[in-house]
Amino acid sequence: MIRGVFFAVLTVVFFYIVWINNIFAPHKKYEMPKEHQKIAMDVKYAKEGKELFIQNCAACHSVRYDGVHLLSVQANPMLKSLQERYGKMIPNDVYQAVFANELNALKESFGKVPPDLSTSYLVKGEGYLYNFILNPQEILPGTTMPPVMAGRPEETAKVVAYLKSVSEPPPEEKTKRTLMGVITIGYFIIMGVLLWLWRGRILKKMGLH
Ligand code: HEC
Repeated sequence: MIRGVFFAVLTVVFFYIVWINNIFAPHKKYEMPKEHQKIAMDVKYAKEGKELFIQNCAACHSVRYDGVHLLSVQANPMLKSLQERYGKMIPNDVYQAVFANELNALKESFGKVPPDLSTSYLVKGEGYLYNFILNPQEILPGTTMPPVMAGRPEETAKVVAYLKSVSEPPPEEKTKRTLMGVITIGYFIIMGVLLWLWRGRILKKMGLH
C-alpha cells in the first residue's frame, strides 16, 4: 500500500517536472512591454513578421524549416534542384556541402555562421528573442550581430511572432500529439494495473498471499 502511494506520487512529480514546470528549460526572465508581448504571441502577425525577416535578417540567417534561405543561398541555382529532390527539408550534410561557399563567406565576416533560426523560439522564448534582436550587444556582449532592428520594437515583436509560428506545429498536428500522449499514458496505466493483478494471482498460486 505504502509502495503504491509512493509510486503514484513519483509519477505525478515526474510529469509535473516534464510537462508543467520543466526545471531543465531556461527560466531567466527577459522583460518586454505588454503591447509587444501581445504582438509576439499572436500568429496574426506572423506573415508580416516573415516579410520583415526576409528584409532584415535573411542576409545572415535562414529559417530552413519554413523554406526561408540565406539570400546568398537563394541566389545559388543549386537550391532549386535540391528542393526538387528533397522538398523543404534538405538534409543537413548535403546543405552544408553544397552551400559551403555561402556559409564560409558569412563565417569570415562574422567569426561564425549565424545560426539557422527555425527552432530559436523553442530554445530561447519570446522575451530573450525580443531583447536580443532589439539590442544584441546588451544581451550578448561582444556579439558580431549588428543591431539591425534598433529603435523598431514593434516590428521586432512581429519578427518574434514569425519565429514562434515556425517553431509550432499546426493546430491539427498539436491535437494529434496531445491525443497520442494521452493514449500512451493510458496504455501504461492499464498495463500497470493488469501487471499488478497478474502478480497478485501468481503470488496466490504460489501460496504467498
Ligand atoms: C549582418 C548579419 C546579421 C543580420 C542581418 C542578423 N543577424 Fe542575427 N546573428 C548574427 C550573428 C553573427 C549571430 C551569432 C552571434 C553570436 O553568437 O555572437 C547572430 C545570432 C542571432 C541569434 C541567436 C542569439 C543567441 O543567443 O545565440 C538570433 C535569435 C538572431 N541572430 C536573430 C536575428 C534576427 C531576427 C535578425 C533580423 C531582424 C538578425 N538576427 C539579423 C548576424 C546577423
